[in-house]
Amino acid sequence: MKKRWQHCHAATMAGGKYSVIEDAVILTDGARIEWIGPRAAAPESGDCERVDLDGAWVTPGLIDCHTHLVFGGDRSGEFEERLQGVSYAEIAARGGGIASTVRATREASEDALFDTAKARALGLMREGVTALEVKSGYGLDLANERKMLAVARRLGEALPLTVRATCLAAHALPPEYANRADDYIAYVCDEMLPALVADGLVDAVDAFCEHIAFSTQQVERVFRCARDLGVPVKLHAEQLSSLHGSTLAARYRALSADHLEYMTEDDAIAMAQAGTVAVLLPGAFYMLRETQLPPIDALRRHHVPIALASDLNPGTSPALSLRMMLNMGCTLFRMTPEEALAGVTIHAAKALGLQSTHGSLEAGKAADFVAWRIGRPAELSYWLGGALPNRVVRGGVEIDVARIA
Ligand code: NIG
Ligand code: FE
Repeated sequence: MKKRWQHCHAATMAGGKYSVIEDAVILTDGARIEWIGPRAAAPESGDCERVDLDGAWVTPGLIDCHTHLVFGGDRSGEFEERLQGVSYAEIAARGGGIASTVRATREASEDALFDTAKARALGLMREGVTALEVKSGYGLDLANERKMLAVARRLGEALPLTVRATCLAAHALPPEYANRADDYIAYVCDEMLPALVADGLVDAVDAFCEHIAFSTQQVERVFRCARDLGVPVKLHAEQLSSLHGSTLAARYRALSADHLEYMTEDDAIAMAQAGTVAVLLPGAFYMLRETQLPPIDALRRHHVPIALASDLNPGTSPALSLRMMLNMGCTLFRMTPEEALAGVTIHAAKALGLQSTHGSLEAGKAADFVAWRIGRPAELSYWLGGALPNRVVRGGVEIDVARIA
């Protein structure tokens, strides 16, 4: 079914820029964009459905490339403790933090996890998200990691949403492996990853490289295993300290290294050479009251693509809004609204290995886009969250998120 979407302006985000087309026409054929350009140059589209977008600004569908949105329970109690001055690392050391979400996630049924995750995903979709990543990492044994990844797959089947599933088994040490981190990594590499990859549940493998999690040597073991299984890697790196996990990630041609507050210029150079995306997570920066800024200027200087994501998780970033992250990327990290929008479109697509099909409005790519009732693209970063009126199109079909229950 061919459609002609007209009476709009487009911020295509091709090449990481707005690449504005005023008075644009988008021709779609089924789930793909067939042509996009100025109305004056549009080919005759004959007998097709015409959709009037009423002067809207059209952007690619937003992509949240780093979430942990499948989890049991919440950590609002720890939030209150942190407000009293207890640190994230202190809470983790006494068995709270990630470990407490692991307990709640293990106790939850797959259906219960699906229901809460679906509600969070719908909230993101309402603000124009058409693709997102879901990480495991609160199961930490084969059955529970499988349960989380199965929920991620079910979300992609049940909703008009592209979902990438990332196995983050090396997120934290489960209690049954206390003081035996190397044994746990061996379990991850010898049993969990091969089984989960064989089940078709893993699009990428991630790990948490940090003094409160896993060392670079342990992460490298996970990366080698992923490489042998033919699965790309990503890494939580340089969030709380500088271990040069991002350089290690670059050596393994990681899709992305994420967080990065404590990264160095040499890390940025390694990432640029490898084409590894820097995923910045202002929600976690804000919630942890971090003061060390990620080195935006070094990333710019070395042309590292910068993505922004919600990091939606119950501990460090209970962020239910990706659009809020656009504002925070600008206000906290001094990104421009154009960089911020590239960070949730074309660069986010690259962080998920989807850049050839998603992330920009170009002929041949998925017809995933959002028509916003705004006067300028910068408004997407300017308004601090809130429901900006929009129409969301996924795979060439307009979706009514409010009616998906
Ligand atoms: O991305 N850094 C590690 N992982 C998550 C936090 C998970 C949690 O606290 O539950 C993050 O910030
Ligand atoms: Fe994370």
